Amino acid sequence: MRTKLNLQTKDNNLYMPEPARIIKIESHNDKEKLFQLELLERKTLGNIPGQFVQVLILGYGEAPISITSAPRNDNKFELSLRAVGDVTNKLCSLKAGDIIHIRGPFGHGFDDSIIARMRGKHLLIVAGGTGLFPVRSLINKLLPERNKYKKISLLYGCKSPQDRAGAYEAELKTMVKIGENVELLETVDKVSSEWTGNVGVITTLIPKVDFVPEETIAVIYGPPIMYKFVLKALKDRKISNENIYMSLERRMRCGIGKCGHCQMEGIYVCQEGPVFNYADIEANEEVF
Ligand SMILES: Cc1cc2nc3c(=O)[nH]c(=O)nc-3n(C[C@H](O)[C@H](O)[C@H](O)COP(=O)(O)OP(=O)(O)OC[C@H]3O[C@@H](n4cnc5c(N)ncnc54)[C@H](O)[C@@H]3O)c2cc1C
Ligand code: FES
Repeated sequence: MRTKLNLQTKDNNLYMPEPARIIKIESHNDKEKLFQLELLERKTLGNIPGQFVQVLILGYGEAPISITSAPRNDNKFELSLRAVGDVTNKLCSLKAGDIIHIRGPFGHGFDDSIIARMRGKHLLIVAGGTGLFPVRSLINKLLPERNKYKKISLLYGCKSPQDRAGAYEAELKTMVKIGENVELLETVDKVSSEWTGNVGVITTLIPKVDFVPEETIAVIYGPPIMYKFVLKALKDRKISNENIYMSLERRMRCGIGKCGHCQMEGIYVCQEGPVFNYADIEANEEVF
């Protein structure tokens, strides 16, 4: 069953942007950056994995950006983004100490009921390209409590080694070192001389994972083109639609279910998503 909007915002005002200071910026690669930020007027962002904030750059506009950090008890949070347009290009030109504004967190993410469904199961997380940014929030929530899950497998695919999220390198290496019930499988579409790992699209990793379909929950994050191929590969391995969660990106304006920009056959993606159970949206022709 689809879940309604989980709105947490400063002073219960959904429209009022609030200031956040950039503490640190790291480059993932030549197109993408990781921003560490701190709220100036609130003790904690209060997000759950899968939610997003509306980032406002005065004079440039607003854009929805996923919260890449796991839920925290302090006023810090992180965003990772690719510079593609007005807001993201301007944000990528800023420096530590600069102030931006945000609204949120907004959207339906991995709430307690989904986390409860995941407990004891094998989690198969499929992240393509910048899809790793939003799902990192979930991964970093799950890793410290990994004993509650049968296994956590992260499948991460990029176009080339240069496109990998360089600022997460240490975290990816830690996942490999953990061993036990945690595994990381990576692939790139195009080879370069220094790459010794898998080559091929992300679906080529799915047959390499040993899982029991009834005891597995898959989570898909990536560019729209990836979804239908990953879904087919999961179907081939007999994972049911109820055991697949995915995040959908749609053009958004208000982020809070008022303007209709994100609507998909009556579903407001900003409100009932961006995280959906596939069984709830499979019949929607606008999904892919
Ligand atoms: C829930 C959610 C979470 C997201 N999380 C992230 C994230 O974590 N990191 C990240 O990098 N991005 C994320 N995005 C994507 C990001 O919000 C968009 O790329 C956003 O458009 C960037 O804003 P901008 O002002 O920089 O670019 P825009 O000015 O909006 O331009 C972006 C691109 O879209 C094109 N474009 C602009 N308007 C239209 C239009 N009306 N129709 C078709 N094409 C158009 C532009 O030419 C350009 O190529 C997320 C989106 C959603 C919905
Ligand atoms: S973005 Fe306005 S209704 Fe979803």
